Amino acid sequence: MKRLVSGVRPTGYLHLGHLEGVLKNCVKLQEEYECFPFIADWHSLTDHLDTEMLREYTIQAAVDWLSAGIDPERSTLFVQSHVKEHAELMLLLAMVTPVPWTERTPSYRDMLQKLEGTRQSPSLGFLAYPVLMTADIIIYKAEVVPVGEDQLPHLELSREIVRRFNHLFGRKVFPEPEALLTEVPNLPGTDGRKMSKSYGNCIYLSDPPDTIRKKVMQMVTDPQKIRRNDPGHPEVCTVFAYHRIYNSAEIDQVERDCRSGALGCVQCKRNMADALCTYLQPFHERRSYWSENLDEVRDILTECARRARTIASQTMEEVREAIGLFQSGVESQEFEIGIPVSPVFISRLSSLDS
Ligand code: TRP
Ligand code: SF4
Repeated sequence: MKRLVSGVRPTGYLHLGHLEGVLKNCVKLQEEYECFPFIADWHSLTDHLDTEMLREYTIQAAVDWLSAGIDPERSTLFVQSHVKEHAELMLLLAMVTPVPWTERTPSYRDMLQKLEGTRQSPSLGFLAYPVLMTADIIIYKAEVVPVGEDQLPHLELSREIVRRFNHLFGRKVFPEPEALLTEVPNLPGTDGRKMSKSYGNCIYLSDPPDTIRKKVMQMVTDPQKIRRNDPGHPEVCTVFAYHRIYNSAEIDQVERDCRSGALGCVQCKRNMADALCTYLQPFHERRSYWSENLDEVRDILTECARRARTIASQTMEEVREAIGLFQSGVESQEFEIGIPVSPVFISRLSSLDS
């Protein structure tokens, strides 16, 4: 089975956009691929250093992955920082990655622009974002990465790094990962802009149905439809974009009645909220189970990290070998117990004491 890696950054609670864009895709592909869904907590530190909520966001993201239908028997669901080998591989990849390659990525350029005129500058970690992302993927020798359009430049860079690594060390240690461009439905936030925590326009996966209903009732609609019977323009309406996804069976009817003025926005929103809540009901049921059983979620993350480390540490042995590092013979497992100290070293230490 081919392997697939998919990550989300725990910079906040996950929202409906994550469910449609990342989580559902991975759940669907579990049948075809050996999947490694993970929570990229190191990546969230590249530009979010207020970490008060990081632990909470991380465990809640795991709850969301599981509630979306990730089966931990089949898929390895883990937290990035639990698999230290990602960091070792990133360090080694950094040695073969020319700095200008990383400076060219749109996310880095955007950040420079955002910080222009301030006294701040992006961190080294931010610049190396795509190098860490490359490590996340290739440490499992994954061949597919389902991504949205925005991540394509990162993946292209990953492929370049892999080519360079394989070329420099004369063997094909890593396959070139391929982007699986997934069709992500256009899901705007409640105000019609892109759904984002910073805009305060998100429908969160942890929102209970009555919160979702309230948010739907506050959604922006066609500004020209003021009174109930005014004819509307569904193509500019956020509520209609949601009908398209969650109430597709009645989409033609909604469009007709909106245009004719037979349907008022209040009723239309109620109908959409009903459809959305019905759609989310199985997710919400699973979510209430997992959020009441966080110890079980923690156990899953621990077990999966162990599984991930077994694979990752094998890859790292191959990598050290290919590069020509002198390997210590200390198995990765032993690191968890502590590095064995040689007797010679101990006697040298005690001679220093006296
Ligand atoms: N960069 C991804 C995002 O912001 C998150 C991510 C980190 C990722 N490492 C990854 C995605 C590896 C896929 C594969 O959405
Ligand atoms: Fe939007 Fe529905 Fe109002 Fe038409 S009737 S403008 S689709 S909320």
